[in-house]
Amino acid sequence: MYDFTSDPRFNGIERIPGKCLLASPTMHGDEKKYVDEAIDSGWVTTAGANIPAVEEEVAKLVGVKYAVALSAGTAALHLATKLAGEKIYGQARPNEGTLAGHKVFCSDVTFDASINPVAYEDGEAVFIDTEYDTWNMDPVALEKAFELYPDVKLIVLAHLYGTPGKMDEFKKIADEHGALIIEDAAESLGAKYKLNDQWVETGALGNYNCISFNGNKIITGSSGGMFLTDSLDDANKVRKWSTQSREDAPWYQHEEIGYNYRMSNIIAGIIRGQMPYLQEHIDAKKAIYERYKKAFADLPVQMNPYDTDKSEPNFWLSCLLIDEDAMAPFVRGEKDQLWSHESGKSSPGEILAALNAFGAEGRPIWKPMHCQPIYRSNIFITRNGNGRARSNAYIKENGITDVGSDIFRRGLCLPSDNKMTVDQQERVIEIIHRCFQ
Ligand SMILES: Cc1ncc(COP(=O)(O)O)c(C=O)c1O
Repeated sequence: MYDFTSDPRFNGIERIPGKCLLASPTMHGDEKKYVDEAIDSGWVTTAGANIPAVEEEVAKLVGVKYAVALSAGTAALHLATKLAGEKIYGQARPNEGTLAGHKVFCSDVTFDASINPVAYEDGEAVFIDTEYDTWNMDPVALEKAFELYPDVKLIVLAHLYGTPGKMDEFKKIADEHGALIIEDAAESLGAKYKLNDQWVETGALGNYNCISFNGNKIITGSSGGMFLTDSLDDANKVRKWSTQSREDAPWYQHEEIGYNYRMSNIIAGIIRGQMPYLQEHIDAKKAIYERYKKAFADLPVQMNPYDTDKSEPNFWLSCLLIDEDAMAPFVRGEKDQLWSHESGKSSPGEILAALNAFGAEGRPIWKPMHCQPIYRSNIFITRNGNGRARSNAYIKENGITDVGSDIFRRGLCLPSDNKMTVDQQERVIEIIHRCFQ
């Protein structure tokens, strides 16, 4: 392991006091009240007052008619995917997923929980490349994908790190091709997008919408997620599936496969206590982003970008991207990596190691799904068409065609915890400056 403390570039830098995390729960005290109420009343189960209360509150905030509280964002995504599959292709046999034999266009740079439900439902994820303006799915590549596979009827879109993707373009393309959209707003609760001159919350922009209350999210229940919709039928179906799919009979009668995906009243109590602080959390995250942006103005880096006219992110994670000509040597294998320093340059490997050495937590950008061993044989589409097998031993490649891999290679997530003090953040900023010396 590299010893940063004996590198003269880091002379005078001390370990950052306290915790300086990527993103962790910020509690306010109200959470305890609702959890205590649940315990005192005996409702320590998947029913109880906190669940409908928090469903109503989230539905109102996001601007949808119905919210269904579930055990995780992953559960919400699974049931959204199953619902979409059933709507498009009909009910599947119990031993088969609803997407069997069908392709689904999916975000590429995201957490695998966004797109694993396609596999749970026996579908084939086709990964769509990323664009540089918001680091989300590239609508141009999506259009290309429909040219190549016009029969596809489902798109899974994630808003990366709390920054909305180009929803107006996605909706237009989906409408043209009669496709449905699953919106993964797990990271973007509270972020807004301007659609037809109206601000709409992420989580209300797709045909099936999902959010997460995982421990690192902007509002947390320690875990938990929600399915959001304007359709009463869809809400009822997800509610039924999430509680083992019981039919209306005096005994346990089943006509379809069920799941144990309902949120507990304890988790709902924590979320209920957190909800009034969403805007406060967003403001704190935005201040962190702005401080980084200002402080890095003299470095060869860019912050994770967003469309300032059409979107208002929740700034869940602040990230940076190192300019190509300021990249020091850096290679990643499947499970390990090597970096070395060059004057005036740095790399995500070096910066993350330096932050870690001085007590701060960053993270690599999500490794693109099309590069993940499990999905390495899935189709990958870029603006230029098929993104696989592009090189030729006899013809020189020109230009970058795989934007997601480029952002993964040059980018990193910075400590973005709401509780990070200005002093801690300044130390993080100083360490990153020293990396470029
Ligand atoms: C983009 C994205 N999708 C889905 C999930 C899954 O949510 P959960 O952890 O609540 O299952 C997460 C986060 O965990 C996420 O970041």
